[in-house]
Amino acid sequence: MEEIKENIAISIEKALDKKVLREDILDKIEIPKDNKNGDFAYPCFHLSKVLRKSPIDIANNIKEKIVLDSKIDRVEVVGGYLNFYLNNLDVTNNVLKKILNEKENYGSSYIGNGKNIIVEYSSPNIAKPFHLGHFRNTVLGSALYNLYQTLGYHVIGINHLGDWGRQFGLLIEGYRRFKDEYDISKDSLNVLSEIYVRINQLAKEDEKIMDIARENFKKLEEGDQELYKLWEFFREVSLKEYKRIYEILGSKFDSYNGEAFYSDKMDEVVEILDKKGALVDSQGAKVVNVGDDIPPCIVLKSNGSTIYATRDLAAILYRARTYDFTKCIYITATEQILHFRQIFEAAKYLVDEKYQKGLVHIAYGMIRLKTGKMSTREGTVIYINDLINDAISKAKGIILAKNPNIENIDEVAKQIGIGALIFNYLKTSKVKDIIFDLDETLRFDGETGPYVQYTYVRAKSILEKAGFYEKETSDIDFHLLNTKQEVELIKELDKFPQVILKATEEYEPSILTRYLIEVATLFSRFYNECSVIVENEKLKEARCSLVYATSIVIKKGLSLIGIQCPEKM
Ligand code: ARG
Repeated sequence: MEEIKENIAISIEKALDKKVLREDILDKIEIPKDNKNGDFAYPCFHLSKVLRKSPIDIANNIKEKIVLDSKIDRVEVVGGYLNFYLNNLDVTNNVLKKILNEKENYGSSYIGNGKNIIVEYSSPNIAKPFHLGHFRNTVLGSALYNLYQTLGYHVIGINHLGDWGRQFGLLIEGYRRFKDEYDISKDSLNVLSEIYVRINQLAKEDEKIMDIARENFKKLEEGDQELYKLWEFFREVSLKEYKRIYEILGSKFDSYNGEAFYSDKMDEVVEILDKKGALVDSQGAKVVNVGDDIPPCIVLKSNGSTIYATRDLAAILYRARTYDFTKCIYITATEQILHFRQIFEAAKYLVDEKYQKGLVHIAYGMIRLKTGKMSTREGTVIYINDLINDAISKAKGIILAKNPNIENIDEVAKQIGIGALIFNYLKTSKVKDIIFDLDETLRFDGETGPYVQYTYVRAKSILEKAGFYEKETSDIDFHLLNTKQEVELIKELDKFPQVILKATEEYEPSILTRYLIEVATLFSRFYNECSVIVENEKLKEARCSLVYATSIVIKKGLSLIGIQCPEKM
């Protein structure tokens, strides 16, 4: 498709007697939302000034003069647009051959050229349960990880655990006081967070507890053996629980170096900033000024202690040296937008420009429940374990009602339940808030994961019924696929590689999710209008190939966003 687009640009350039640069033309060529308006469109409005004619006249002029290559069937002028229509038979042939030959590699490429991309995601604060916000973060990060990988990048997934800070001094104190009241081996994260809440409450009433906490953290920083062991224990039980969830979600991390990892790497940061004259005093604290429109980035507090931002600066320095990254992408909720603006700006004193320019912050919106905002105090926070269990058991009920004799019901229910959750979180653009409703996400007939998975299963069962087996693509007569529904579906499948690229470039897996809904919808339309199992063997073969190609795209698309496809359901 890219090649066709380039050829169109070349033809337009010629028709305009090279009065406009080819690159500028290429830049402006669009793919119309509705393919009634062609497969490509070139808006002529921007030429009006240069050529001193109306966009419609310009479009008509180009149409008269243009020489089109054989892949283009015709061009039409509508308003100030030139709409190009591809030769359908050509598209059909090429696309389907490509998909059937490349199979699960269709859509993958080498454009990343092995360059290093860091995707930093999930990053929960240890000793606290995983909630819906972390879930959104994790599925977004996982999808980006997969997308970059499929484009030939070398991806490093980092979980920047929140595992350092004075709160651990407090938690240690709480643990000492209350541990005997709990069985920490069960539900350990909830126990730790409950202990934290209790000791925090006490500390508000009793100043002395805060002093002890401070003292604890100081000792921890100095490497006190006993305290370090306790901290390590908190980290281990937390990580064990998180890893269980990551396993379920298929999330990959190459490093769990969190904030604590940088505890001995901050001195150097302070030194460099100081040497470069970037550190200034501000009410006793040491800060870096990062622009007039935002507050300075605090590096050392007035008591000399480091903070969250200091560790992030150390992480940037470390990552630039260790991973030589092209991009380092951070995923967090919108609350941290300011923090990242500050540290990215301050990073210019620490790393080369190429690294600083590669720092990217991706913020995502809030999750709300249908019943309102989540709050720990009101008991309306949804913990991920409950959610996963609920989703799986509901999925199981729905599937059993449809197909009581299904094999591997537990495995399938898991794929559907979890797939529904992931899909739901990725179908909305990342910046938008999500109003979460479990029943809605599990519907088989909406814009949901189960709907897309079900389309895949249906395709597989059609192929089974038809006794389909793979043949050399040169033996298949794809030209028989010429109904409107067939052509529309094929053109959609053709877009897949571009969709992957766009979803990655815009850090927006929802582009892929929405695309999969469209493929599923067009597949249903095709299937309702065109019988696959027909007398005419050649036609049956061609239609089966289209069904098979659709199943390949759906399976790959879902796998990129971390969703597995059952073969039956
Ligand atoms: N632990 C933080 C939180 O839960 C997120 C960390 C984001 N990453 C970073 N490098 N600061 O809010």
